[in-house]
Amino acid sequence: MSAKSGNVSLGGKTVELPVKTGTIGPDVLDIGKLYAQTGAFTYDPGFTSTASCESAITYIDGDEGVLLHRGYPIDQLAEHGDFLETCYLLLYGELPTPSQKADFDYRVQRHTMVHEQMARFFQGFRRDAHPMAVMVAAVGALAAFYHDSTDITDEKQRMIASMRMIAKVPTLAAMAYKYTIGQPFVYPKNSLDYTSNFLNMCFAVPCEEYKINPVLSRALDRIFILHADHEQNASTSTVRLAGSSGANPFACIAAGIACLWGPAHGGANEAALKMLAEIGHIDRIPEYVKKAKDKNDPFRLMGFGHRVYKNYDPRAKIMQKTCHEVLAELGVKDDPLLEVAVELERIALSDEYFIEKKLYPNVDFYSGITLKAMGFPTSMFTVLFAVARTVGWIAQWKEMIEDPTQKIGRPRQLYTGAALRDYVPTGKR
Ligand code: SDX
Repeated sequence: MSAKSGNVSLGGKTVELPVKTGTIGPDVLDIGKLYAQTGAFTYDPGFTSTASCESAITYIDGDEGVLLHRGYPIDQLAEHGDFLETCYLLLYGELPTPSQKADFDYRVQRHTMVHEQMARFFQGFRRDAHPMAVMVAAVGALAAFYHDSTDITDEKQRMIASMRMIAKVPTLAAMAYKYTIGQPFVYPKNSLDYTSNFLNMCFAVPCEEYKINPVLSRALDRIFILHADHEQNASTSTVRLAGSSGANPFACIAAGIACLWGPAHGGANEAALKMLAEIGHIDRIPEYVKKAKDKNDPFRLMGFGHRVYKNYDPRAKIMQKTCHEVLAELGVKDDPLLEVAVELERIALSDEYFIEKKLYPNVDFYSGITLKAMGFPTSMFTVLFAVARTVGWIAQWKEMIEDPTQKIGRPRQLYTGAALRDYVPTGKR
């Protein structure tokens, strides 16, 4: 980090604050001493201009539409590697050698089963429970089964907990799906690769052999890569804040799943598909674009816009290509939802409002159509996002825990409530 500084003048006082420079991307003004030196806080609800940490994992250039994991562009990782290779890269910082990759795959495969009593845990839910509600509970409950990997001060336990979650979250996700459709759970099969195993656990039934479609398995593996990590997004920031208190890793990831569920974040893929279905036909698009532009109408085009990308989300481009591949493989012609999506994108990208506000399709815009074609119900879309993002949350949590300067996150506030006043007895109110 090169040493620079910036001056801040407040209430007649000027203080000099250090500026830190990263490898690439904006400099940061280190305001750690601002309150002590000026008695004032900074104010940035939504953290539009605030860096919450130092990180070496993922970098996004929102203006250029660039996404790098440990320096490697997302399109190259999605094109040439598989999801577990990206998991290794996010966790260890380098692409694995063939023997490192074989060892990592083996270690993940050896943790795919969950404690048999987890199956009884599911029985407590209604069959129509949203699978995200089940996932928040089930992942948090892992702490009740794996006490031998909850000591975050022990590096060995941290790695075991990390491998357990990367391996078990897909199993729990498949169980959540099977439970809601009343089908028996399917055990993991270690003879299958990570994503084929997930498809098998979701779609196989005891009474017949489930044939893995390699095109669909490769497509879903690529979708997992696209969703693996994304800097300090809302759910990752939730995981970091939960982890900063020393909470066990299972609880931190459960908190991340809860945050991801929101329609402004990971829930957007489910909301985007519901929006496309509600629009229903290209003739109705102008009516919805008008609603999206109306300040008094809370309706937004789900799958559009992004806090960081003010250019095309690079993941959306790969997602769109994957969507066409999957529909072609399944022989789905003229999918009405795809027709609406393509036309909606065309209209929105040529509309003054969207151009001025730099609103482009994000990763969630095409994922729903693809996942629906693969046979997943909309209620499972965010669960699939959580399966993929688990490694990103863990890598970011691990980076924070291993940072010697790490301390509990405790933001301050601008207080706008009542000033000091005395209690009023009931009879005098
Ligand atoms: C994800 O952070 C990440 O990295 C997230 C993610 C990840 O991988 O972790 O990329 C995954 O969450 C992708 C985003 C999925 N969400 C959606 O698709 C929901 C629809 N999008 C919007 O809700 C919104 O764009 C957000 C939440 C994504 C971003 O919101 P911001 O950055 O707070 O921007 P904003 O709401 O202040 O919008 C800026 C302007 C506003 O107009 P003005 O108040 O300035 O007049 O753009 C408008 C908004 O009204 N706007 C939209 C819009 N998104 C923003 N108008 C219509 N439709 C939209 N989708």
